[in-house]
Amino acid sequence: MTEQVIRFYETGGPEVLKVESLELAAPGPGEVRVGHRAVGLNFIDTYHRSGLYPVPLPSGLGLEASGVVEAVGEGVTRFAVGDRVAFGSGALGAYASASLRSEAQLLPVPEGVSDEAAAAIMLKGMTAAYLLTQTRVLTADDTILLHAAAGGTGLLMLQWAKDLGARVIGVVGSEEKAEIVARYGCDHILLRGRDPIAPTVRELTDGKGVPVVYDSVGRATFQDSLDSLAPRGLFVSFGNASGPAPDVTPAVLAAKGSLYFTRPTLASYAQTREELEGLAGAVFERVARGALSVEIHQRFPLAAAAEAHRLLESGKTQGATILEP
Ligand SMILES: NC(=O)c1ccc[n+]([C@@H]2O[C@H](COP(=O)([O-])OP(=O)(O)OC[C@H]3O[C@@H](n4cnc5c(N)ncnc54)[C@H](OP(=O)(O)O)[C@@H]3O)[C@@H](O)[C@H]2O)c1
Repeated sequence: MTEQVIRFYETGGPEVLKVESLELAAPGPGEVRVGHRAVGLNFIDTYHRSGLYPVPLPSGLGLEASGVVEAVGEGVTRFAVGDRVAFGSGALGAYASASLRSEAQLLPVPEGVSDEAAAAIMLKGMTAAYLLTQTRVLTADDTILLHAAAGGTGLLMLQWAKDLGARVIGVVGSEEKAEIVARYGCDHILLRGRDPIAPTVRELTDGKGVPVVYDSVGRATFQDSLDSLAPRGLFVSFGNASGPAPDVTPAVLAAKGSLYFTRPTLASYAQTREELEGLAGAVFERVARGALSVEIHQRFPLAAAAEAHRLLESGKTQGATILEP
């Protein structure tokens, strides 16, 4: 059977993405052939495509999808043909109508979770899980500063933080996005470019600053994030939507009040099967009891992946985006 795949041969803008047809090999030992039903779009895909995060070329693209098991290789024990599965880590290649995956990366999709929701919630949801329950064990006593609060990952983090009882100061790029985060209970909403971030955070915290900042925007928000932290606060720098954050020196961390700085990745919080299942289990448990809802705001045909990248990089998307194989 011929599959549609997106590949790139050189790094660059969205135009380097090529739509191709290929025949998938039969699954090898420990491998599963997954027919994709929905593919999740993530900002990290643009870093792979642009070369910010180098990968060997030519390459497939994408880390997140849901679908159905179509064939299993020798020794596969966890899955059988017909099972609904999803993944949010592993080898690049989610931008395709089907792919071969190691069974160790796959997770069963519980009943009641749609294909689209599963494709939007694996990478982004597991990220929210580790950032809010492990990088920092968030409690109801915490106030957090959350950049890109209306984004794919941001909306999940906002809901998760509210579920834990924390107070959230969310930063968004437009009035429309402000309305969305308000709907999800964001306690204080700052409009990027209009509201002075660090001074407003000080006002909202009686001059103290926040104990933790979640910054996935990078270069453009770095200084504001640093200036918003309380003494002994934690700077969680987990993305570069506006470009990489500058280097931070021990002297700056000392001068700003014994700060902590971390640059976490999902891969280092999901190193074992147990860790992966723990994160996915926490995500699906929240979806099942209605604490986490997944909004798909944009849909593109798989072949229009370049167009989807343009929109994501323009900062104009809201919530999650799905590519339809
Ligand atoms: N480390 C990890 O484990 C991990 C895992 C998943 C995601 N991430 C990171 O989390 C971030 C969000 O990922 P996502 O896929 O959910 O994307 P997203 O948040 O849906 O989209 C990025 C958002 O960043 C904001 N932004 C601010 N300045 C921007 C600029 N100059 N260019 C483009 N966007 C800008 C925009 O929202 P506003 O206009 O509202 O500001 C934009 O919508 C990314 O940085 C990603 O790399 C990290």
